[in-house]
Amino acid sequence: MSGVVVLISGRGSNLRAIVDGGVPVAAVISNRADALGLAFARGREIKTAVVEHRDYASREAFDAALAKAIDRHAPRLVALAGFMRILTASFVERYRGRMMNIHPSLLPAFPGLHTHAAALAAGVKIHGATVHFVTQELDHGPIIIQAAVPVLPGDDADRLAARVLEQEHVIYPMAIRWFLDGRLSLSGGRVDVAGDGARQFQLVDR
Ligand code: GRF
Repeated sequence: MSGVVVLISGRGSNLRAIVDGGVPVAAVISNRADALGLAFARGREIKTAVVEHRDYASREAFDAALAKAIDRHAPRLVALAGFMRILTASFVERYRGRMMNIHPSLLPAFPGLHTHAAALAAGVKIHGATVHFVTQELDHGPIIIQAAVPVLPGDDADRLAARVLEQEHVIYPMAIRWFLDGRLSLSGGRVDVAGDGARQFQLVDR
């Protein structure tokens, strides 16, 4: 087993941060052939694969094909980075404890889509991003690290998203490195990180 398989559906800025962070990426797999992140991966000579969800009649069939594509690389970790598909229970179970996601809110607040607009509408003053292990419940698995940023006067969803995204690029590679270094432990739904100087939060005041 070696490295990380990253699943993407689009832009791939988190993928880029992961690669630039020195994480060994065994392959990048997308459910969309036009995902921008695939071009980036090819440019870095990382193996890529496309498993188009539209080619499969059911979620189960798609997830089975996806698992096959992943397992070909025997990764230690599967990292979802803007992968826009709901996964079946058996897929989630197959990678239990070795599949992570990054979500653009401070979970458990604002699961699902359009998190920045939802945060603005709720009037929260602090927003952020969360890296968590993936479980059956969408956007609710054990939290590995969170980054908090302020919501500033004059923010719209795009400005807020950009502030959060900058921090996503800091915390996701960090969480993955902790995992690969064997520093993460999971008990009772809580994740701890071993070793000195590891903070499971990032606070940004700008
Ligand atoms: C990020 O905001 C991530 O938190 C969310 O989807 C977005 C993906 O962006 N899950 P990118 O493709 O990594 O640029």
